[in-house]
Amino acid sequence: MTNDTRKKTNVAPATGKLGILTPGLGAVSSTFMVGTKAVIRGLGDPIGSLTQMGRIRLGKRTDNRNPLIKEFVSLAKLEDIEFGAWDIFEDNCYQVAKKNHVIFGDLVDQLREDVEGIKPMKAVFDPKYVSRLHGTWIKEGKTKMDLAKQLMDDIANFKATKKVDRCVMVWCGSTEAYLKPSEVHQTVEAFEKGLLNNDPNIAPSMIYAYASIMSGVPYANGAPNLTVDTPAIQQLAREKKIPISGRDFKTGQTFMKTVLAPGFKSRMLGINGWFSTNILGNRDGEVLDAPENFKTKEESKLSVLEHILQPELYPELYSKMHHQVRINYYPPRGDNKEGWDNIDIFGWLGYKMQIKVDFLCKDSILAAPLVLDLALFSDYAQRAGFSGIQEWLSFYYKAPMTPEGLYPEHDIFIQQLKLKNTLRSWMGEDPITHAEGE
Ligand SMILES: NC(=O)c1ccc[n+]([C@@H]2O[C@H](COP(=O)([O-])OP(=O)(O)OC[C@H]3O[C@@H](n4cnc5c(N)ncnc54)[C@H](O)[C@@H]3O)[C@@H](O)[C@H]2O)c1
Repeated sequence: MTNDTRKKTNVAPATGKLGILTPGLGAVSSTFMVGTKAVIRGLGDPIGSLTQMGRIRLGKRTDNRNPLIKEFVSLAKLEDIEFGAWDIFEDNCYQVAKKNHVIFGDLVDQLREDVEGIKPMKAVFDPKYVSRLHGTWIKEGKTKMDLAKQLMDDIANFKATKKVDRCVMVWCGSTEAYLKPSEVHQTVEAFEKGLLNNDPNIAPSMIYAYASIMSGVPYANGAPNLTVDTPAIQQLAREKKIPISGRDFKTGQTFMKTVLAPGFKSRMLGINGWFSTNILGNRDGEVLDAPENFKTKEESKLSVLEHILQPELYPELYSKMHHQVRINYYPPRGDNKEGWDNIDIFGWLGYKMQIKVDFLCKDSILAAPLVLDLALFSDYAQRAGFSGIQEWLSFYYKAPMTPEGLYPEHDIFIQQLKLKNTLRSWMGEDPITHAEGE
């Protein structure tokens, strides 16, 4: 039963259509779009999506209340979604899905009519940030501010022609070259000046994020790009009351890491070394083959263990751990990534043991449901009146954003608890702490 002392947050209903806009129409976004259409047509199940398949326990264990999350909170329905995208290549969603071979061709063909009309809009692109790709479907503008305005026009046109009530933007574009925050990223004023002056430290993804927020559209960052992780964009999101979240979808190897590491730590097992390597042959792998782009990914992948294991609190167990991450571009594998981990652990009296994990995964099959969940939850947060960093969405990210001064929570089980307790509290339900008797 709802606790009388808890107030339910007023959430505007999910009426009308929701537009999901993805900068990048590649393996992840096409798999997400084709997959969503397949689910709507009853040709597949939305496996991996918490919003579609997950349940949430309410009250005590004996209460036996476990509604589906999508029935507990008012989320947009899949049938009410319209898709839009930008890319530096002109291929439509059907052509992209056929080329990248993630979803079997006959299923893509069955859905041809549903997805052929999803044609990318011209992209904002700078080869300095993604040197391996050479597209032709690119906007021109004198200044970065001109480009931002063109994106805002795209969003307005999309809303009008597709007759959508609300939009969200989920970055599914390539990983950009490594970038550190600088002067131009510190305030909205400096950032807008930088857009007018073509500051080289403003990456294309930041121009999309700026256009998104200025258009009243929540932004979720699926890549490890710096994008919304700057004081300027966060200030803008707060001022415009727009939810933002990031960064980098937590799908394969890092997902496994954040499942396993909390387990080792819960048993006070020590770790000497964790060596992770990947072979990957899709376009993402090709982009990450450039050292400056891999550095962005590496930072995101390395941050995980340190925060989970807390070597400063457990120096005997984790202070001497050697953590290394590699990604190797290996075209024969396509989207079928192999993530291999060697973990050197030690137990009672320091005796050494090894664990090997070999995850033969399909990268975009793991990422697609995350795009859906992030889009639906970001829209929900917007309707609930929440803005700025959505820490409760850390569950989906390799390098979760946090408000200043707080360390990120990487443990997937804590992240899940946080997500569900956030939903419970918004709906006026008691949080679940798993205390004795609860
Ligand atoms: N698949 C996963 O499991 C996973 C996990 C975490 C993060 N990611 C990230 O998600 C992103 C998408 O992955 P993917 O496998 O679909 O890659 P992909 O290369 O298939 O697709 C990315 C698309 O973005 C386009 N693009 C590049 N710069 C652009 C710009 N400025 N504007 C518009 N489009 C642009 C590219 O042309 C390409 O078509 C990558 O950054 C990847 O690192 C993927």
